[in-house]
Parts: sequence; structure tokens; C-alpha cells
Amino acid sequence: MILNNVIFIMGVSGCGKSTIGELLSEELSVPFFDGDDFHPQSNIEKMSNGIPLNDEDRYDWLVTLNELAKKQLQKNSCVIVCSALKKSYRDILNRNIQNQVKWIHLSGSFDQIFERLKNRKHHFMSSDLLQSQFDTLEEPENAIEINIGLKPQEIIEEIIKKIKMKSEFGLFGLGVMGKSLSRNLAQKGFEISIFNREAKGTEEDVAINFKNAHKELEKAQAFSEIEAFVNSLQTPRRIMLMVNAGKITDMVIEDLIPFLTDGDILIDGGNSNYLETKERYDYLKSKNIHFIGVGVSGGEEGALKGPSIMPGGNKETYNLVKPYLNSIAAKDINNLPCCTYIGEEGSGHFVKMVHNGIEYVEMQLLAEVYTILKTMGHNPDEIADILESWKSKADSYLLDITAKVLRKKDGNDWLVNKIVDKAGNKGTGNWAAIATAQLGVPSTLIPSALFARYTSYYKEERLQANKNFTINPSAINLDTEEILKAYQFARIINHYQGLKLISEAGKAYKWKLNLSEIARIWTNGCIIKSDLIMELIPVLKEDDNILTHKTIINQVKSLKPSINKVVSECILNELAIPCLSESVSFFNGYTTANSSANIIQAQRDYFGAHTYQRTDDTSEKFHHTNWK
Ligand code: 6PG
Repeated sequence: MILNNVIFIMGVSGCGKSTIGELLSEELSVPFFDGDDFHPQSNIEKMSNGIPLNDEDRYDWLVTLNELAKKQLQKNSCVIVCSALKKSYRDILNRNIQNQVKWIHLSGSFDQIFERLKNRKHHFMSSDLLQSQFDTLEEPENAIEINIGLKPQEIIEEIIKKIKMKSEFGLFGLGVMGKSLSRNLAQKGFEISIFNREAKGTEEDVAINFKNAHKELEKAQAFSEIEAFVNSLQTPRRIMLMVNAGKITDMVIEDLIPFLTDGDILIDGGNSNYLETKERYDYLKSKNIHFIGVGVSGGEEGALKGPSIMPGGNKETYNLVKPYLNSIAAKDINNLPCCTYIGEEGSGHFVKMVHNGIEYVEMQLLAEVYTILKTMGHNPDEIADILESWKSKADSYLLDITAKVLRKKDGNDWLVNKIVDKAGNKGTGNWAAIATAQLGVPSTLIPSALFARYTSYYKEERLQANKNFTINPSAINLDTEEILKAYQFARIINHYQGLKLISEAGKAYKWKLNLSEIARIWTNGCIIKSDLIMELIPVLKEDDNILTHKTIINQVKSLKPSINKVVSECILNELAIPCLSESVSFFNGYTTANSSANIIQAQRDYFGAHTYQRTDDTSEKFHHTNWK
């Protein structure tokens, strides 16, 4: 599928727009429209009397042409000719369809055109007005420029060659995600250019070999030279960066800048830090380059078959890449794309970061369930059976893959028994923990899951400590139904906390976030897709805080005895379950009407005169006591 396009042919009067437009529309077998046929009578009269049109005269006419283009785009491509001399006119013509418009500028010298006009009969514009046309002309930045000195047929060939040769979308970086996304784009029929750098001995001919290995990339253009890659793209260029977050992203941007032109768009699809996304946006803005930060979830398979996409940045820029992102995204239950505009600045990357925080906790909770069931004497196949039996009540992608992971054999043993128990991370969980601390939001499970990974990394010390303290959990006595309920409880708290972090960030950064819509795009394609997320879509329509919703309150109440029991039993038997236990500890604190924070305030006032408020003073004034 190639998106329908409107080809606007522009240029001063007499440049041959109508002839070329008609020929082009015949060649492409698409409808042709002469903009002049859409002038209101009043404009025609003015022009016939030799009076130049002013901007006010033109406004309604340009809007009519824009409407015409929009209507045509729903069915087909088309060719429209219109002088469109000023940028502001072209802006009206482009309105809401920028990404589907191609501009052809027929350019020639004054003398060339003056000669033509002199020989022309029956034209309602006199050649005397030509100079004012040249004076008005603001050269377009993003048009295919064709010199009218060529013969009409040569002009048509040139236009077709230029339109066809240029790809509509560029993918920079062919790592695991970049490869899958480019195949996804090509499968949807987009004309793409792909790029991977060349490093002698380690990365050679990556792009071309990758293209040759996949049928769907037959028409893709493959590059290892940045300049050629950039020049292969239609303007405004849309380039998606799929490179490592951090310094590499900055280096790639610097490498691209010299070849970009005003209005081009860079899309950062990596797991970038949301604060850096904002800095990059500002930096690139100063260079007239658009930048949007896009969270992409789904791993290799999701990227190929349809990821969940979280774009943030300027809304108008987003609209220029929306059709591409929507097309490659996973589809929700109503067949809507799992892609939605998140908000300004780095909000897309922020939401992806919290998605990953929730993911860390979901993974950790499943690891804790595994450790409990293992300690109870179940082997990996039995644990997989138990997890699968939970699908009717707590299905999720992560539950499903965990069961599959547990079943995987390696020789006579299960593979999981041979995997070293040191968990890695690439940084998003760390940033989510930092963000929650910085924003003053108690999303405590994300740091708990993160620190569980960090603790796991101290393998040597753990082995030593295990001997020193003779810890050997074994006597756990729990019902699997109870473990399921405890797991469900902790998942609700995890989702409450993650969504709370997003909601509070939205307020702090003045992003207008729609949490229900965010939940919707997490229902497919992403790592945390689950039945629970589906359930949260209507809940979040009512309130950002899911713990205020009646059905959730009832669920939490009925699950609470089980989490109390499971956590107590594990603690008594010295089994580490940091996220299960934190979920209930947090909840107990969160639901405490009169907490112990009065003691903290008194201590602060004692040693630092930090003052406190009094329960018997409704003015909320701050008091200090001389404690000694
Ligand atoms: C996703 C994943 C993906 C990746 C992260 C997490 O949503 O597709 O979150 O982005 O797996 O890099 O990785 P770490 O666990 O290594 O931090």
C-alpha cells in the first residue's frame, strides 16, 4: 500500500502548469484539477480586469482547493495545479494533509515566461502582471524543482523519476528493532530507505545484505553512506532512528544534521531518557529540524508484527508521521492502532519508561511466584501448568512467556535451572525509579523490582551471606489459589503506581495526558499487555486513580487476605519476595488514616527547626517547638 498523494504543481502564471498537470495526470491515471476552475466569480472578474488578487481574495479559494484535495485523498491520488506563490498559500493547501502532499515547482526565468505569455491567447491574466508574480513568489523549500526549459514529455519523465525514486520513510540503524520495524514498514507497502553504518571487519554490508535476505525489502533502498541515505528520501524527510539511547543517539543526530534541510523530521524510536528527548527537541528546533520521541514496545516480534507506539513531541510534527506509525502499530480489539499521540516534549518516552517500570514489576512478581512454587517443591513444568491455569483470571503476555520459558528443556534438565541468577537491565527501570523519586510520587514497586535485579547481581556476596546466615527457606505452606490472589493484588498496586506516576508527571510537566488512551495502546503489541490493562480502559475514563473505582476497590478487598497470608508465610520462611511484600506494605501505608509521619515531623523540628503543622490548628500554619 502506498499512501494516496496530492501532487500540487505550482509556479508563476505562464509556466505551463496546466499542460504539465494534465499530462502528468494522464501518465499516472489519476484525476486532474485546474485550481483556476475553482475561483469564485468575483476573483475571475478582478483578474480579467487586470486587478491583482489580494490575500483575502485568495483565502476562500485556497480553502476550497484544500477541501478538494482532502476529498480526493479518501479515494485516490490526484494532480492539482495552482500558482501557490506564497508559503502561506501553500500552508493552507497543505492543511491536515501535509504528509500526503508532494509539491512540484515549475520554474523558469522572467524572460522565458514573458515570451510564452506574449504568445498566449484567451488567457485571463495579462503578461504585465508577470513581474508582480515573480515579486510575490516565495521559493518553496520542499518541492521538486523542474526547469520549464525541458520539453513537456521530458518534464513528465523527470517528475515521475523524482517522485518515484525517493523513499517516503527512512530507517536509520538495523539492530534487532530497526530490522523488524523496516520489514514491518515494507510489508505495509511503504517505500523505505534503510541505513546501517559500515565498520570494517565487524559491520559490513549490513543494510544491503539485510535487504537481499527479505523479499518484502525488494523495493527498499539500502545504504551505508549517510548522505546518500538522506538524499534518497522525499522532503520533508522522515527518518526514524533505531539506535542505542544516550550518546550514540546524539552522535547520530550530529552525523545527520549536515545533510538535512528545514522541515525534516527525526523520530527517535529508541528507549531514550525523556529529559534528553526534550533537550534534543529544543536543539533541533534551533536548526529548523522537527524531532519527536517515540516509545516503541514489543521487542523483536512486536516490532515486526505490530508494536505499541507512544509518540511524544509537537502535535503537528506527529501528524506528519502518524500514518506510518499507525500503519505499523499493533491493533487493539476494535482494530484501532495501538499508537496515540501522548503529549508534548518527552512525554512519549516518559510513558514508555513507566511502561518499562511496570514491566520490571510484572516480571519480578512472576519471578517471586516462581520462587514460592519452587520452594514448595514444584518443578518448572508444574509451575508452568499452574501459571497456565491462571490464564482465565490473570492472563498477560508476560505470564504466557514465563510458562513457555519454564517448559524449555536443555538436555535432561530445564533450561531455567542452567541460567545464572543475575538479572541485567538497560536503564529504563533506573530512570523510572529516579523519576518517581524526583517527582515525589511513591511508586515504590518500580524501585523494589529494580533493586531486586541489583541485589541479584551481587552473586558472590549472596553466596557468602547465605553461608554466614544459614538461610534456607523450605517449609512454605500455601495454596496456589492464594498465591494467585496475592499476585493479582500486587499487580493492581503495580498498575495503580505506574499510572499514578504518569498522571503526576502529566501535571508537573503540563502535558495533557489521557490515561485511558494510554491503557488502550497497551492492550496489544507491548510487553505489558494483559487482561488487567483491558479492564483499566473504562476505569481510567472516570479517574486517573484506579483505587477510587468501585470494581477495583471490591477486587482489592477480596484479594487482601491472600496477600497478607502469602507475604507473612514467605517472610516467616525467609523467602525473598520484595515486590509482593512491598505491594502490601505500600497499601497498608496508603490506607492508613493517621500515620506515623507525625513522629518524623517532630524529629525534623527537634534537630533542624523544620517546623510542623498542628492537628488543632486549621489555619495550616507551621509551628516550631523548643524541645529541650
Ligand atoms: C519493550 C521492552 C524493551 C526492552 C527494554 C527493557 O517494551 O519492548 O521494554 O524496550 O526489553 O530494553 O530492557 P531491560 O530489562 O534490559 O532494562
